[in-house]
Amino acid sequence: MTGDGPAAPGVEAPGSPPVVVAVDGPAAAGKGTLARRLAREMGLPYLDTGLLYRAVARQVLLRGGVPTDAAAAETAARALRAEDLARDDLRGPDVDQGASQVAAIPAVRAALLDFQRGFAARHGGVLDGRDIGTVVCPDAAVKLFVTASAEARAERRWREREGRGEEIPFAEVAAEMAVRDARDAARDVAPMRPAADALLLDTTGLDVEAAFHAAWKLVRLRLG
Ligand code: DC
Repeated sequence: MTGDGPAAPGVEAPGSPPVVVAVDGPAAAGKGTLARRLAREMGLPYLDTGLLYRAVARQVLLRGGVPTDAAAAETAARALRAEDLARDDLRGPDVDQGASQVAAIPAVRAALLDFQRGFAARHGGVLDGRDIGTVVCPDAAVKLFVTASAEARAERRWREREGRGEEIPFAEVAAEMAVRDARDAARDVAPMRPAADALLLDTTGLDVEAAFHAAWKLVRLRLG
């Protein structure tokens, strides 16, 4: 399906601004897999913006701080280095919550904004996060807001964690996710919400392939 029809939508006419695709939505909605695949399909770079907040939280924790400490989190955000993003300990439950906590601090968001905008402005890209369509790239050519039922998302995350060898009750995973999503949606600065011109994609009941095809259809629709 992806190889047929007109050229990939990411292919630009000379002189046109680089194509930016914003993929926002709550935890475990399938954004990352989808965004990565769209980027590959469109020949665009991919940026997982959640990783920035995760790396900030990890740096704060490594220094013995707490992610709700605004000064410590801002210092960590301003000092963030490429190698901090390449760590293999950015996906545990402590960092899940910590990332969401540092992400509610305005100075942290401000410190990370230029990098994200610069990334998109240089070559275009597919960026996934919570505020890409609303704040980071409000002029993105395509904005997807990817969601799924709370039950389906919690189940995905629970399976992921069980697959990593963790033994954890489903209810605990669901509760942690609910706390994080509520915090991400309720914060004062750049809360998670669909942009007014976002296309909504509900991935409940869709596997990775079906979710990609649904998203690809929306991208092509938007880019003509
Ligand atoms: O996408 P993720 O689960 O890796 O993101 C981790 C946390 O980072 C998430 O709970 C909220 C925050 N985040 C954000 O506030 N804005 C973004 N653009 C991306 C992530």
